[in-house]
Order: sequence, then C-alpha cells, then structure tokens
Amino acid sequence: MEFTIAVLPGDGIGPEVVGEGVRLLEAVGKKFGHRFHFDYAIVGGGAIDKYGTPLLDETLEMCKSCDAVLFGAAGGPKWDAPGAKVRPEQGLLALRKGLGLYANLRPVKVYPMLMTSSTLKPEALLGTDILVVRELTGGLYFGRPKRRWETSRGRRAVDTMSYSEGEIKRILMVGFKLALGRRKRLTSVDKANILETSRLWREIATETAKDYPDVALEHLLVDTCAMQLVSRPASFDVIVTENTFGDILTDEAAVLAGSMGMLPSASLGEKEKDGRIFGLYEPVHGSAPDIAGKDRANPIATVLSVAMMLRYSLGLGKEAESVERAVEGILEEGYRTQDIASKGARLVGTREMGELIAARI
Ligand code: IPM
Ligand code: MG
Repeated sequence: MEFTIAVLPGDGIGPEVVGEGVRLLEAVGKKFGHRFHFDYAIVGGGAIDKYGTPLLDETLEMCKSCDAVLFGAAGGPKWDAPGAKVRPEQGLLALRKGLGLYANLRPVKVYPMLMTSSTLKPEALLGTDILVVRELTGGLYFGRPKRRWETSRGRRAVDTMSYSEGEIKRILMVGFKLALGRRKRLTSVDKANILETSRLWREIATETAKDYPDVALEHLLVDTCAMQLVSRPASFDVIVTENTFGDILTDEAAVLAGSMGMLPSASLGEKEKDGRIFGLYEPVHGSAPDIAGKDRANPIATVLSVAMMLRYSLGLGKEAESVERAVEGILEEGYRTQDIASKGARLVGTREMGELIAARI
C-alpha cells in the first residue's frame, strides 16, 4: 500500500527523534512492501522565527491531505518569555483543534527489563499496563474567556473550564470501547466534589456505562488518582479524563515507565474510514532543549508512536506489532539510551538506537 505522512519535526530534540521515526517507517515499508511518502513542514518555535507564527494555515491544510501526522516537539527557552505574544506550543494546540483530534491515547507500559529504571519499587510496578485516554480539545486549554488584565488592585487573569455533553460523551465512548478490547476496567477521573464540569462528566460516565455492561466503571477524584497511580499502578486498565487532568497524570505516569522517553501517544479524530482513523502521533516528552542536538534523546517514544500510527491510522496491525517486538528485542539485548541506562547497559545514542530497532523489523 501507499501512504503519505505529514512530518513535523518541530523544536529541540524533535528533529532527532522524528528522524528515527522516519527511518523506522522506511524499514517497515521495505519489509512489508509499502511505500511511504513524507511531506515535511516547520512548526513551533522554528515557524515563529521563519514565519512569525507557530503554525501556517497551509501546514494545517497539508496535514489534512495526508494519511497521518508525525510530530516531534514544540518549545524552548528562546520563545519562553512570560510576555511573549506567540508561543511554539500554540502551534501544537492549533493542530489538535484544527484537525479535530479530541482523543489522546497515552499507553503506559512497564517493560520488565526497565523496572529498575523507575524510582518506584519493582514489586509495585509488576504488570503495570495502563491506557490513559485524555480529552484533548476542550477544558481549560481552549475555554473562553481566557485572558489577563490590569485592575486597580493589580493584575488578574482568568482561564475557563468548559465542557459540553457531546464532548464528554464522545471521549468516554472511546474509553469504554478501548476497555472492551483490554481488561474491561475503566476509571473515570474527575473532581466532582468541586467542579461543575466534573459533576456533568461523572453523570454522563454513569449513563454511558449502561451501554457497556461488560466494562466495570469506577469513578476516581483526580487527587486520589494521582496518589493511586503510584501506590497501585498495576490495578489500572483504562483511565479516561479531561484535558488538564490528563496532561498532569500522564507526566506522573511516565515515572512508572522509567522515563518520559518511553511514552508514545496518538491523537485521534472522529473521521473513521474502513477501520482507519486520521491521527497525529507524537512522543509524550517535550523538546528537551538541554540535550538537543547531542544524540542523547531516547527515540523509543517516537518509534512506539509510529507503531500506533501503523495500527490506528494506516490499518497495519501486523506491522505495528513487529515494531513493538523490535523495541522489546533491543531492550532485552541490553541496549539503552542514557535516560534508561543502568549499570552494565550497552549505552547508545539516538541514532544508533533507531538503527538497531529498524534493523530488527
Ligand atoms: C503534552 C504537552 C502539551 C500539553 C504542551 C506542549 C502544549 O505538555 O502534550 O502533554 O500541555 O498538552
Ligand atoms: Mg504534558
């Protein structure tokens, strides 16, 4: 088959890890007889420097015309001034919103051979395999009003947490459906003791559960969830939550996997054709400017994001599995980038790790 992928390397370590993602797709194409075309564009801080905006309209249109998007990272100290009018991260938000990517899937899997990389005890981590489903186009990130102004008593700012029934229902349905294909447990995370949006969320979760009698639904307050993620991680299956809670909880969950460099993500839209959903794929980690250009970044999060792309957007499940097996194989052989290295590891850089994985396809 033939596919066109929009490639948006972005800032910091983005270009390095995305380069390995592209290398991997080429290896998959060669092995399984597919052809991948790559359409590149500049986004984030690089686009601010070049065009004065983090995302050009034509880049958004280009993405729409592709089968899927591979994204690296956006941001860096250069564009971080508190008063800055445009920010690299706005490019990513505009992409998510502009492409209607409301469902963010962030699997958190603990590889047995990496258990010692985590600061948590191995016995607590054993068997941890969580899928966080984060709502991605609503909540505090996009709610209006959102602004800052001067008052006679000093500066003031407001953000708005807002959700419609439709927005809540569709993300919960994604969670329930995915739970059906897994261990059939869904944890809906909210702050229903305080927030109106959360009370609506909880009500709709309970209603939606009636359509999925085989899935066991539990409600959990976000603060409790934050605690239980580290005290009983192995007992979670699918977690579904709103935008900001999901952002925070998935950084916390990265500790379980040993490193942010291990966590992939898929951001999916509504359009489904022949079991294929348009999506954007990106590592959960950010641009890591401190190690950019040093061949030190872990490309596995991007490589595993490519596996998700193969599965969800390209309908290539077998190919996705071969990528996941290649990653496991390389880890079993003891190869490690610096973020997951322990004593006696075979330390490799970004490029070598990418090459090793691609060679195993
Ligand atoms: C993430 C990141 C982004 C977010 C930033 C870079 C806009 O933290 O994908 O988790 O907050 O969604
Ligand atoms: Mg985040």
